[in-house]
Amino acid sequence: MGKWEGFFSKETSSLKSSEIRDLLKLTEGKSVISFAGGLPDPSTFPVEDIKKIADEILETKSASALQYTATAGISELRKQLVSFTGLRGVTGINENNVFVSVGSQEALFMLFNVLVDPGDNIVVEKPTYLTALNVLRTRKPQFHGVPVTERGPDLQILESELKKLHSEGKKVKLMYVIPTAQNPAGTTMYLDDRKYLMELASSYDFLVVEDDAYGFLVFDGDNPPPLKALDKEGRVIYLGTFSKILSPGLRLGWIVADEEIIREVELFKQNVDLHTPSFNQFIAAEAIRRGVIQSNLPKTKSLYKEKRDYMINAMDKFFPSSVKRTKPVGGMFIFTWLPEKFNTVQLLQEAMNRGVAYVPGSSFFYDYSGTNTMRINFSFPNKAEIERGIEILGNLIRSKL
Ligand SMILES: Cc1ncc(COP(=O)(O)O)c(C=O)c1O
Repeated sequence: MGKWEGFFSKETSSLKSSEIRDLLKLTEGKSVISFAGGLPDPSTFPVEDIKKIADEILETKSASALQYTATAGISELRKQLVSFTGLRGVTGINENNVFVSVGSQEALFMLFNVLVDPGDNIVVEKPTYLTALNVLRTRKPQFHGVPVTERGPDLQILESELKKLHSEGKKVKLMYVIPTAQNPAGTTMYLDDRKYLMELASSYDFLVVEDDAYGFLVFDGDNPPPLKALDKEGRVIYLGTFSKILSPGLRLGWIVADEEIIREVELFKQNVDLHTPSFNQFIAAEAIRRGVIQSNLPKTKSLYKEKRDYMINAMDKFFPSSVKRTKPVGGMFIFTWLPEKFNTVQLLQEAMNRGVAYVPGSSFFYDYSGTNTMRINFSFPNKAEIERGIEILGNLIRSKL
């Protein structure tokens, strides 16, 4: 027991650092090729544009840019976000439907706190974004998992689960879903499935938290409109982020939702951090207004497509054929399934000893299943690291077959 453990609140007991995070920490400062993170390639940061914008803001708007501001975000950015989200096909919204957060992670934290009580029935994809799951876990809901197929969540399984719950007199409160370039599966839902999901949400009366973190980063095939664009009832809460398209260090994300939900989040955020940094918001507003993000995107997408292809080629060369993998249509990750007997948590230590790290896939399953899976990032490592790291992983897997 630590010296101060008796002083910590009961809530912190669910925050215990995971075995995996502890292991991955060991990579810090070592020459380990990391496929574990979800970092953008730093060459995609529009440094010169940001420098120019920051200088101009300090020259012309320092009184407001360095000042406290409104909890929901600066008006300039909220206005820009109305049109920017419009590029994803979301229309019929105004500034009052937009709320600026400290990355979409804070938005997830606030929304799950505002919406989820212990015991509530919550639907998540299997697998899904690990840190959303971790926040949800602190709310102690009843999880229901829907497997992700090559075309997104299996809606037939969802429908039968909804029917079953209904027959037991239970109701799903919300579904957390990443319909486009899913993290970690890399899949995108078809338009028909999106419409069908919205019908299910309407018939069974649940909210949809739509995480569109990679919506601007689809580099292959169709990019159908987000669920929010198909939402006629205001039941979709849309989350966007600047992290993958401008800079994660600015820590900026946004929510698009019905005003009643926005107001509740606003009350909550007043207790969290008052507001999102004003200066960063001015930078983002200007970056949209000047088209910096829009003109940078084609370069980022083609770089990630190139890296994805490079990694897939390396996997095809070095991984045994018994390893299955996704071919992501966007985003930053490839998800792999090793033969059933593998436990990728146990394998991680050995992989790191050989100089390569990944995230064991079980972290992305609410029930910690998927023990033979791993998530591998291709956006951050360079080509030489991709080739070398995949070769090391391939040799390790082969040695255990
Ligand atoms: C699906 C998804 N949602 C949300 C986030 C949180 O990102 P941020 O807080 O930087 O916006 C991430 C980050 O990797 C993500 O992959």
